[in-house]
Amino acid sequence: MIGKDITTVRQFDKSDIDRVISLSKKLEKYLQTKGELDLLKDKILASLFFEPSTRTRFSFEAAMERLGGKIISATGMSGVSMGKGESLGDTVRTVERFCDIIVMRHPDVGSSDMAAKLVKIPFIGAGDGSGEHPTQALVDFYTIKKAKPAPNLKIALIGDLKYGRTVRSLLELLIEYNEDELYFVAPDELQLPEEYYQEMTKKGVKFVKTNSLEKAVHECDVLYMTRIQKERFEDKNQYDQLKGYYVLNNQTIRDLKPDAVIMHPLPRIDEIATEIDSDPRAIYFDQVENAVYVRMAFLLIVFDRDGEFLSLEE
Ligand code: CP
Repeated sequence: MIGKDITTVRQFDKSDIDRVISLSKKLEKYLQTKGELDLLKDKILASLFFEPSTRTRFSFEAAMERLGGKIISATGMSGVSMGKGESLGDTVRTVERFCDIIVMRHPDVGSSDMAAKLVKIPFIGAGDGSGEHPTQALVDFYTIKKAKPAPNLKIALIGDLKYGRTVRSLLELLIEYNEDELYFVAPDELQLPEEYYQEMTKKGVKFVKTNSLEKAVHECDVLYMTRIQKERFEDKNQYDQLKGYYVLNNQTIRDLKPDAVIMHPLPRIDEIATEIDSDPRAIYFDQVENAVYVRMAFLLIVFDRDGEFLSLEE
Protein backbone atom coordinates (compact mmCIF):
# COMPACT_ATOMS: atom_id res chain seq x y z
CA MET A 1 0.00 0.00 0.00
CA ILE A 2 2.99 2.32 0.34
CA GLY A 3 2.60 5.31 -1.97
CA LYS A 4 -0.28 3.52 -3.66
CA ASP A 5 -3.85 4.36 -4.52
CA ILE A 6 -6.67 2.79 -2.50
CA THR A 7 -9.75 2.31 -4.63
CA THR A 8 -10.94 -1.23 -3.92
CA VAL A 9 -10.92 -3.72 -1.07
CA ARG A 10 -9.87 -6.36 -3.59
CA GLN A 11 -6.35 -4.91 -3.47
CA PHE A 12 -5.97 -5.96 0.19
CA ASP A 13 -4.74 -9.39 1.16
CA LYS A 14 -4.93 -10.82 4.66
CA SER A 15 -1.54 -9.39 5.64
CA ASP A 16 -2.61 -5.86 4.56
CA ILE A 17 -5.78 -6.18 6.61
CA ASP A 18 -3.84 -7.40 9.65
CA ARG A 19 -1.36 -4.54 9.25
CA VAL A 20 -4.11 -1.89 9.19
CA ILE A 21 -5.95 -3.47 12.12
CA SER A 22 -2.84 -3.78 14.27
CA LEU A 23 -1.70 -0.23 13.49
CA SER A 24 -5.19 1.20 14.14
CA LYS A 25 -5.25 -0.46 17.53
CA LYS A 26 -1.87 1.06 18.45
CA LEU A 27 -2.90 4.49 17.17
CA GLU A 28 -6.09 4.38 19.20
CA LYS A 29 -4.14 3.57 22.35
CA TYR A 30 -1.48 6.20 21.59
CA LEU A 31 -4.04 8.96 21.01
CA GLN A 32 -5.88 8.10 24.20
CA THR A 33 -2.77 7.94 26.39
CA LYS A 34 -0.14 10.19 24.80
CA GLY A 35 -1.98 12.55 22.46
CA GLU A 36 -1.50 13.77 18.93
CA LEU A 37 1.34 13.17 16.47
CA ASP A 38 3.20 15.30 13.94
CA LEU A 39 4.37 12.56 11.59
CA LEU A 40 2.64 14.11 8.56
CA LYS A 41 3.42 17.77 9.30
CA ASP A 42 4.96 18.17 5.83
CA LYS A 43 1.91 16.74 4.02
CA ILE A 44 -1.29 18.26 2.62
CA LEU A 45 -4.43 16.21 2.07
CA ALA A 46 -7.03 17.38 -0.47
CA SER A 47 -10.49 16.30 0.56
CA LEU A 48 -12.90 16.37 -2.41
CA PHE A 49 -16.45 15.33 -1.63
CA PHE A 50 -18.81 15.60 -4.59
CA GLU A 51 -21.51 13.64 -2.74
CA PRO A 52 -22.71 14.30 0.81
CA SER A 53 -20.63 12.88 3.66
CA THR A 54 -20.34 13.46 7.38
CA ARG A 55 -18.32 10.54 8.74
CA THR A 56 -15.91 9.80 5.92
CA ARG A 57 -14.96 13.40 5.24
CA PHE A 58 -14.61 14.49 8.85
CA SER A 59 -12.82 11.32 9.95
CA PHE A 60 -10.25 11.65 7.15
CA GLU A 61 -9.77 15.30 8.00
CA ALA A 62 -9.56 14.57 11.74
CA ALA A 63 -7.09 11.74 11.04
CA MET A 64 -4.87 14.07 9.03
CA GLU A 65 -5.08 16.77 11.73
CA ARG A 66 -4.21 14.27 14.46
CA LEU A 67 -1.14 13.30 12.47
CA GLY A 68 -0.07 16.94 12.19
CA GLY A 69 -0.94 17.27 8.48
CA LYS A 70 -2.82 20.01 6.66
CA ILE A 71 -6.06 19.91 4.69
CA ILE A 72 -7.50 21.65 1.65
CA SER A 73 -11.06 20.74 0.80
CA ALA A 74 -14.09 21.14 -1.44
CA THR A 75 -17.64 19.90 -1.03
CA GLY A 76 -20.09 19.65 -3.91
CA MET A 77 -19.36 20.24 -7.57
CA SER A 78 -20.53 23.83 -7.31
CA GLY A 79 -17.72 24.48 -4.82
CA VAL A 80 -15.11 23.93 -7.56
CA SER A 81 -14.94 24.81 -11.26
CA MET A 82 -16.82 21.59 -12.14
CA GLY A 83 -19.77 23.89 -11.45
CA LYS A 84 -18.62 25.84 -14.53
CA GLY A 85 -18.32 22.66 -16.60
CA GLU A 86 -14.73 21.57 -15.89
CA SER A 87 -14.21 17.80 -16.08
CA LEU A 88 -13.44 15.60 -13.09
CA GLY A 89 -10.17 14.63 -14.79
CA ASP A 90 -8.96 18.21 -15.09
CA THR A 91 -10.11 18.90 -11.54
CA VAL A 92 -8.03 16.12 -9.96
CA ARG A 93 -5.02 16.88 -12.20
CA THR A 94 -5.21 20.48 -10.98
CA VAL A 95 -5.70 19.65 -7.31
CA GLU A 96 -2.76 17.23 -7.28
CA ARG A 97 -0.46 20.19 -7.94
CA PHE A 98 -1.43 21.61 -4.54
CA CYS A 99 -1.24 18.57 -2.27
CA ASP A 100 0.37 15.21 -1.45
CA ILE A 101 -2.70 12.95 -1.36
CA ILE A 102 -6.29 13.16 -2.63
CA VAL A 103 -9.31 11.65 -0.88
CA MET A 104 -12.39 11.79 -3.11
CA ARG A 105 -16.07 10.83 -3.08
CA HIS A 106 -18.04 11.05 -6.32
CA PRO A 107 -21.46 9.70 -7.37
CA ASP A 108 -20.23 7.76 -10.44
CA VAL A 109 -19.21 4.10 -10.17
CA GLY A 110 -15.63 3.82 -11.47
CA SER A 111 -14.80 7.49 -10.79
CA SER A 112 -12.24 6.53 -8.11
CA ASP A 113 -10.30 4.29 -10.49
CA MET A 114 -10.49 6.86 -13.24
CA ALA A 115 -9.20 9.69 -11.03
CA ALA A 116 -6.52 7.49 -9.42
CA LYS A 117 -5.11 6.63 -12.84
CA LEU A 118 -4.90 10.30 -13.82
CA VAL A 119 -2.93 11.57 -10.82
CA LYS A 120 0.64 10.75 -9.83
CA ILE A 121 0.18 11.27 -6.07
CA PRO A 122 -1.61 8.71 -3.83
CA PHE A 123 -5.38 8.69 -4.22
CA ILE A 124 -7.94 7.24 -1.79
CA GLY A 125 -11.48 6.48 -2.96
CA ALA A 126 -14.04 7.51 -0.34
CA GLY A 127 -17.08 6.12 -2.20
CA ASP A 128 -17.92 5.99 -5.90
CA GLY A 129 -21.69 5.81 -6.23
CA SER A 130 -22.88 2.27 -5.50
CA GLY A 131 -19.33 1.02 -6.22
CA GLU A 132 -16.78 0.77 -3.40
CA HIS A 133 -15.90 2.28 -0.04
CA PRO A 134 -12.65 0.47 0.79
CA THR A 135 -11.54 2.34 3.91
CA GLN A 136 -15.03 2.04 5.46
CA ALA A 137 -14.71 -1.74 5.08
CA LEU A 138 -11.60 -1.65 7.28
CA VAL A 139 -13.37 0.63 9.79
CA ASP A 140 -16.20 -1.90 10.00
CA PHE A 141 -13.87 -4.87 10.19
CA TYR A 142 -11.83 -3.16 12.94
CA THR A 143 -15.04 -2.47 14.87
CA ILE A 144 -16.16 -6.10 14.58
CA LYS A 145 -12.78 -7.49 15.68
CA LYS A 146 -12.51 -5.03 18.57
CA ALA A 147 -15.98 -5.89 19.85
CA LYS A 148 -15.89 -9.63 19.11
CA PRO A 149 -12.26 -10.82 18.75
CA ALA A 150 -12.99 -14.57 18.60
CA PRO A 151 -13.51 -16.16 15.15
CA ASN A 152 -16.52 -18.22 14.04
CA LEU A 153 -18.99 -15.40 14.47
CA LYS A 154 -22.37 -15.29 12.82
CA ILE A 155 -22.52 -11.92 11.09
CA ALA A 156 -25.77 -10.64 9.55
CA LEU A 157 -25.60 -8.07 6.75
CA ILE A 158 -29.06 -6.53 6.64
CA GLY A 159 -30.98 -4.20 4.36
CA ASP A 160 -29.84 -2.85 1.01
CA LEU A 161 -27.26 -5.38 -0.18
CA LYS A 162 -27.76 -4.38 -3.82
CA TYR A 163 -26.86 -0.69 -3.76
CA GLY A 164 -25.06 -0.35 -0.41
CA ARG A 165 -21.34 0.13 -1.10
CA THR A 166 -20.20 -0.12 2.53
CA VAL A 167 -21.83 -3.50 3.05
CA ARG A 168 -20.43 -4.94 -0.18
CA SER A 169 -16.94 -3.63 0.55
CA LEU A 170 -17.09 -5.17 4.04
CA LEU A 171 -18.29 -8.42 2.51
CA GLU A 172 -15.19 -8.58 0.30
CA LEU A 173 -13.01 -8.43 3.44
CA LEU A 174 -15.09 -11.04 5.23
CA ILE A 175 -14.73 -13.31 2.20
CA GLU A 176 -10.95 -12.74 2.17
CA TYR A 177 -10.75 -13.54 5.89
CA ASN A 178 -13.24 -16.40 5.70
CA GLU A 179 -13.51 -17.20 9.40
CA ASP A 180 -17.14 -16.32 10.11
CA GLU A 181 -20.60 -17.41 8.92
CA LEU A 182 -22.46 -14.74 6.98
CA TYR A 183 -26.21 -14.11 6.91
CA PHE A 184 -27.61 -12.03 4.05
CA VAL A 185 -30.90 -10.49 5.11
CA ALA A 186 -32.67 -8.48 2.42
CA PRO A 187 -35.91 -8.27 0.51
CA ASP A 188 -35.59 -10.08 -2.85
CA GLU A 189 -35.37 -6.76 -4.72
CA LEU A 190 -32.30 -5.71 -2.70
CA GLN A 191 -30.46 -9.00 -2.41
CA LEU A 192 -26.79 -9.28 -3.13
CA PRO A 193 -25.94 -9.81 -6.81
CA GLU A 194 -25.72 -13.53 -7.66
CA GLU A 195 -21.98 -13.45 -8.47
CA TYR A 196 -21.18 -12.92 -4.77
CA TYR A 197 -22.98 -16.15 -3.87
CA GLN A 198 -21.09 -17.99 -6.62
CA GLU A 199 -17.77 -16.59 -5.32
CA MET A 200 -18.57 -17.56 -1.71
CA THR A 201 -19.59 -21.07 -2.75
CA LYS A 202 -16.32 -21.43 -4.70
CA LYS A 203 -14.26 -20.19 -1.73
CA GLY A 204 -16.08 -22.31 0.84
CA VAL A 205 -17.56 -19.36 2.76
CA LYS A 206 -20.45 -20.46 4.99
CA PHE A 207 -23.55 -18.37 4.38
CA VAL A 208 -27.31 -18.15 4.87
CA LYS A 209 -29.56 -16.19 2.50
CA THR A 210 -32.85 -15.12 4.08
CA ASN A 211 -35.62 -12.52 4.19
CA SER A 212 -36.11 -13.10 7.91
CA LEU A 213 -34.82 -10.41 10.24
CA GLU A 214 -36.16 -12.48 13.14
CA LYS A 215 -33.88 -15.42 12.25
CA ALA A 216 -30.81 -13.17 12.08
CA VAL A 217 -31.63 -11.42 15.35
CA HIS A 218 -32.11 -14.76 17.08
CA GLU A 219 -28.96 -16.48 15.72
CA CYS A 220 -26.30 -13.83 15.04
CA ASP A 221 -23.49 -12.23 17.04
CA VAL A 222 -23.22 -9.13 14.85
CA LEU A 223 -26.09 -7.29 13.17
CA TYR A 224 -24.73 -4.95 10.49
CA MET A 225 -27.73 -2.82 9.53
CA THR A 226 -27.79 -0.66 6.41
CA ARG A 227 -29.88 2.15 4.99
CA ILE A 228 -31.98 1.62 1.86
CA GLN A 229 -30.10 3.79 -0.63
CA LYS A 230 -32.88 6.09 -1.86
CA GLU A 231 -30.55 8.03 -4.16
CA ARG A 232 -29.62 4.88 -6.17
CA PHE A 233 -33.20 3.91 -7.16
CA GLU A 234 -34.33 4.65 -10.72
CA ASP A 235 -37.91 3.82 -9.75
CA LYS A 236 -38.85 5.97 -6.74
CA ASN A 237 -42.08 3.96 -6.27
CA GLN A 238 -39.96 0.89 -5.60
CA TYR A 239 -38.05 2.83 -2.93
CA ASP A 240 -41.34 3.87 -1.32
CA GLN A 241 -42.43 0.22 -1.22
CA LEU A 242 -39.16 -0.97 0.36
CA LYS A 243 -38.37 1.80 2.83
CA GLY A 244 -38.92 0.70 6.40
CA TYR A 245 -38.75 -2.98 5.34
CA TYR A 246 -36.54 -3.86 8.31
CA VAL A 247 -36.47 -1.86 11.52
CA LEU A 248 -34.45 -2.60 14.64
CA ASN A 249 -36.26 -1.45 17.77
CA ASN A 250 -36.78 -2.76 21.28
CA GLN A 251 -39.47 -5.12 20.01
CA THR A 252 -37.58 -6.56 17.00
CA ILE A 253 -34.35 -7.11 18.96
CA ARG A 254 -36.03 -8.79 21.93
CA ASP A 255 -34.36 -12.14 21.05
CA LEU A 256 -30.90 -10.68 20.41
CA LYS A 257 -28.09 -12.42 22.31
CA PRO A 258 -26.91 -10.45 25.37
CA ASP A 259 -23.36 -10.25 23.98
CA ALA A 260 -24.30 -9.48 20.37
CA VAL A 261 -23.50 -6.10 18.80
CA ILE A 262 -25.45 -3.83 16.47
CA MET A 263 -23.53 -1.87 13.85
CA HIS A 264 -24.47 0.54 11.08
CA PRO A 265 -22.14 2.51 8.79
CA LEU A 266 -24.59 5.42 9.13
CA PRO A 267 -26.32 7.65 8.18
CA ARG A 268 -29.50 5.95 9.37
CA ILE A 269 -32.95 6.98 8.31
CA ASP A 270 -35.57 4.88 10.06
CA GLU A 271 -33.99 1.39 10.11
CA ILE A 272 -32.72 1.70 13.70
CA ALA A 273 -35.06 3.29 16.22
CA THR A 274 -33.33 5.82 18.48
CA GLU A 275 -34.76 3.95 21.48
CA ILE A 276 -31.97 1.38 21.12
CA ASP A 277 -29.12 3.91 21.00
CA SER A 278 -28.63 3.53 24.74
CA ASP A 279 -28.53 -0.29 24.53
CA PRO A 280 -24.89 -1.29 25.28
CA ARG A 281 -25.04 -3.63 22.27
CA ALA A 282 -25.54 -0.65 19.92
CA ILE A 283 -21.98 0.27 18.90
CA TYR A 284 -22.56 2.37 15.78
CA PHE A 285 -21.21 5.57 17.33
CA ASP A 286 -18.07 3.71 18.47
CA GLN A 287 -17.83 2.55 14.84
CA VAL A 288 -17.86 6.24 13.81
CA GLU A 289 -14.97 7.01 16.18
CA ASN A 290 -12.96 3.99 15.01
CA ALA A 291 -12.87 5.60 11.55
CA VAL A 292 -10.32 8.14 12.80
CA TYR A 293 -7.85 5.46 14.00
CA VAL A 294 -8.24 3.35 10.88
CA ARG A 295 -7.86 6.31 8.52
CA MET A 296 -4.80 7.48 10.48
CA ALA A 297 -3.37 4.01 9.89
CA PHE A 298 -4.07 4.22 6.15
CA LEU A 299 -2.45 7.64 5.89
CA LEU A 300 0.69 6.52 7.74
CA ILE A 301 1.00 3.39 5.62
CA VAL A 302 0.45 5.19 2.30
CA PHE A 303 3.13 7.76 3.24
CA ASP A 304 5.41 5.00 4.59
CA ARG A 305 5.54 6.63 8.03
CA ASP A 306 4.07 3.75 10.04
CA GLY A 307 7.59 2.57 10.93
CA GLU A 308 8.31 5.97 12.45
CA PHE A 309 5.15 5.71 14.53
CA LEU A 310 5.99 2.21 15.70
CA SER A 311 9.44 3.32 16.81
CA LEU A 312 7.89 6.21 18.79
CA GLU A 313 5.54 3.79 20.42
CA GLU A 314 8.34 1.49 21.71
N1 CP B 1 -20.29 5.73 6.55
C1 CP B 1 -20.26 6.75 5.68
O1 CP B 1 -19.73 6.60 4.54
O2 CP B 1 -20.86 7.90 6.11
P1 CP B 1 -20.87 9.30 5.37
O3 CP B 1 -21.69 9.11 4.10
O4 CP B 1 -21.45 10.27 6.31
O5 CP B 1 -19.44 9.63 4.99
